[in-house]
Amino acid sequence: MSEIKLPKIGFGTWMLKPYEARYSTIQAIKLGYRFIDTAQAYRNEGGVGEGLKEVFESGIVKREDLIIATKVHPLRLRTKKAVSSTIKSLQKLQLDYVDIMYVHFPAFVFGYSHKETLGALGKLVDEGKIRHIGVSNFTPNLIRDALEVIDKPIYANQIEHHPYLQQQSVLKFHKDKNIIQVSYSPLGRGKVLKDPVIIEIAKKNEVSSAQVCLAWVINKGAYPIPKATSLGHLKDNFAAIDLQLPDEDIQKIDEIDKHERYVHPPVITPKEWRKKKQNLE
Ligand SMILES: NC(=O)c1ccc[n+]([C@@H]2O[C@H](COP(=O)([O-])OP(=O)(O)OC[C@H]3O[C@@H](n4cnc5c(N)ncnc54)[C@H](OP(=O)(O)O)[C@@H]3O)[C@@H](O)[C@H]2O)c1
Repeated sequence: MSEIKLPKIGFGTWMLKPYEARYSTIQAIKLGYRFIDTAQAYRNEGGVGEGLKEVFESGIVKREDLIIATKVHPLRLRTKKAVSSTIKSLQKLQLDYVDIMYVHFPAFVFGYSHKETLGALGKLVDEGKIRHIGVSNFTPNLIRDALEVIDKPIYANQIEHHPYLQQQSVLKFHKDKNIIQVSYSPLGRGKVLKDPVIIEIAKKNEVSSAQVCLAWVINKGAYPIPKATSLGHLKDNFAAIDLQLPDEDIQKIDEIDKHERYVHPPVITPKEWRKKKQNLE
C-alpha cells in the first residue's frame, strides 16, 4: 500500500461514550478532520464505526480520504490475541483495514513482547489489515529494543506531549529515527489552558488557549490529537491547523515546561517485569 500523509491535527476519542463517538466522528469529518484516533480499550470503536459508516454512505468522504488509528487491547498482546483483537476492532469500526494499529502501551506484565506482539502486527500488515505499525507510551530504549527484533518499521509513537510535558529528547529521538510523534493529551487534559503564559499569548494573537497549545505542538513537528465532545471545541481545535505563532511566543511556551504527566498507563520495563516475575516465583 502507498505511504500515508498524516493530517496536522487528529481527533482523539478517549472517554467518549459510543453515541458521543458516533456524533463527534461525523461532526469532526464534516468540519474537515481526516485523522481519527480510537482504541479497543476506549470501548467506543463501535460508535466511531457507526459515524464512519454514515459519512461514507452520505458521500462526504471516501475511505481512502481518512486515516483511522486504533490500538490493540492491552490484555490481548500474545500472537493469537493480537490478531483477534485486530479483527474485532475492524468489525467494530466496519472497516477492511486500519491505517495505524498501535500497541497501546508496552504491557510486559500482560504478555507484551516485541517479537510476538509486533510480529503478529507485521503479519497483519502483510495481509493488508493494517497499513502501519504504531507504538504508544514507548521510551526510546524500548523502541531501540523493538527495532532489533522486528522486520517492519515503526511508523509512529503516540506519547503524552503538551507545554507542561515537553519531552524534548524523546521528540529528537523520534526525528532522528524517522518515527512520527503523535502527541496525546495536547491540551494537558484541559489543565494547560489555564496557564497565564498561554492565556496571554492567546489574547495577543486573538486565538483560543487550545489553539495556542495545538499550534505549539505542530511547531515542534508533532501531530496533536485533541479530544473534544462539543461542536464548539471540535471547531476551535481544527482552526489551529494553519496557526503559526511568532517565534517569541513559541520560546515563551518552551519555558513553561513542568515535566508534569497527566496520564499514567501501567508501563513496566522488561527489567522490572523480570524482577516482578522472580518475586512471584
Ligand atoms: N495512547 C494513550 O495511552 C493515550 C492516552 C491519553 C489520550 N490518548 C489520545 O489522545 C486524545 C486526547 O487526549 P485527552 O483526551 O487525554 O486530552 P486533551 O485532548 O488534552 O484534552 C481534552 C479535554 O480538553 C477539553 N477541550 C477540548 N477542546 C477544547 C477547547 N477548544 N477549549 C477548551 N477545552 C477543550 C475537552 O472537553 P470536551 O470533551 O468537553 O470537549 C476535554 O476535557 C485522547 O482522546 C486519545 O485519543 C491516548
